[in-house]
Amino acid sequence: MSADKRLYIKTYGCQMNVYDSERMADVLRPLGYALSETPDGADLVVLNTCHIREKASEKLFSDLGRLKPLKVEKAEAGGMTVAVAGCVAQAEGAEILARSPVADLVVGPQSYHHLPELIARAARQNGERVVADFEPEAKFDALPKTRRTHGPTAFLSVQEGCDKFCSFCVVPYTRGAEFSRPAAAILDEAKALRDKGVREVTLLGQNVNAYAGEGGDGRWSLARLIRALVQQAGLDRIRYTTSHPNDMDDELIAAHGEIAQLMPYLHLPVQAGSDRILRAMNRKHTAETYLRLVEKLRAARPDLALSGDFIVGFPGETEADFEATLEIVRQARYASAFSFKYSRRPGTPAAAMEDQVAEEVKAERLQRLQDLLEAGRQDFNAAQVGRTLPVLFERKGRSVGQLIGRSPYLQSVWVEAGDALMGEIAEVKIEAVGPNSLAGALALSSKEAAA
Ligand code: SAH
Ligand code: SF4
Ligand code: F3S
Repeated sequence: MSADKRLYIKTYGCQMNVYDSERMADVLRPLGYALSETPDGADLVVLNTCHIREKASEKLFSDLGRLKPLKVEKAEAGGMTVAVAGCVAQAEGAEILARSPVADLVVGPQSYHHLPELIARAARQNGERVVADFEPEAKFDALPKTRRTHGPTAFLSVQEGCDKFCSFCVVPYTRGAEFSRPAAAILDEAKALRDKGVREVTLLGQNVNAYAGEGGDGRWSLARLIRALVQQAGLDRIRYTTSHPNDMDDELIAAHGEIAQLMPYLHLPVQAGSDRILRAMNRKHTAETYLRLVEKLRAARPDLALSGDFIVGFPGETEADFEATLEIVRQARYASAFSFKYSRRPGTPAAAMEDQVAEEVKAERLQRLQDLLEAGRQDFNAAQVGRTLPVLFERKGRSVGQLIGRSPYLQSVWVEAGDALMGEIAEVKIEAVGPNSLAGALALSSKEAAA
């Protein structure tokens, strides 16, 4: 086994891919691969791809093109293996190998624990294609028990896949059916993270609140898992993402009011505000049921910061439908949000629908929606000025003696604070609000604690 091989991983897409990229590095580390910041001179390049929108997918081919000269350069010095992983690999494996001579192997999101053998096989014969087999259980069992951590926060995948089949979305096809990891495996992974100094864990799943993992005494809900993580793994902060409105049960809503360690921030996509469009999207909820749900959540946790995802220009969306989206934004009051122009994805039902919306109309609607969402975000941030909030310090600021951390609402907070507070949670009085962050000062008691 040779040491000092260089590995470059580029991650596109959602947090699940961020988690997968970290785990790929964990799988490859015992083989002597150390992470490198650039692809120049790398022995192995992994492109961990996203298929969600056309633009994301197309990035793969431009990146493969850019790798070509680097691969030629490296040919003399041991060669460069290029692996395409992630959701494009799953959806278009054969096409990738046919279209790009740069890619040596293709590996789907459920098969990356096989990377070591695939790399060896690709070295012998060019172009090993691996069809991901949708057996997430096998993957999680095969992954190394040890994880490298990066500061006091970490992602932890607890659920994968999606059975919802929203008519615009590729995820049910790229990630397969819903699957939940057993609770014990998650608790072990969380305890190991805590032992390495992790204070905050974000539980991940495409539909994380559909979690139903085996707990030894039957299936556990996400709420039960969160309680166990607080009690048994000693985590200070827990978040989860992404949730579907229809899986938000009363137990989980109540947990937001009862568990102090469960952070008051919730990503709960609604996608659109018109019931006609929601029906065409196969969302199986209405604007009204969504707003009632938000009300219940805020009754349980009044300071809950809400985040969401929106799609504009879904096939058949009229100006009136779009205005209903603006209206749901006004009513639900989002602290942050992601919004996208509808992108036609091959193989999804919506791609075949008539009345596709013109690109200019989508662009104009997106701008109006983003203006409204941005105003809401700024209002939410401004409302924090004068409050004292617990901040978990994650990294150094630009100047000496400055640390950057996160508020419970996931805002970045800049504070004059000594390095001793890195990885710690301290009370911070919020004094000012900038375009993308807050600034504050240590409240007296935490200053004394740090002295
Ligand atoms: N499982 C999550 C999110 C999955 S994808 C959920 O159901 O909420 C993340 C976001 O990408 C979606 O919430 C949606 O807003 C957006 N998205 C998915 N498919 C899209 C498409 N074809 N065009 C534009 N945006 C899309
Ligand atoms: Fe896609 Fe809908 Fe599943 Fe979310 S719930 S991953 S948007 S199909
Ligand atoms: Fe993209 Fe796959 Fe995540 S399509 S959003 S990387 S699940």
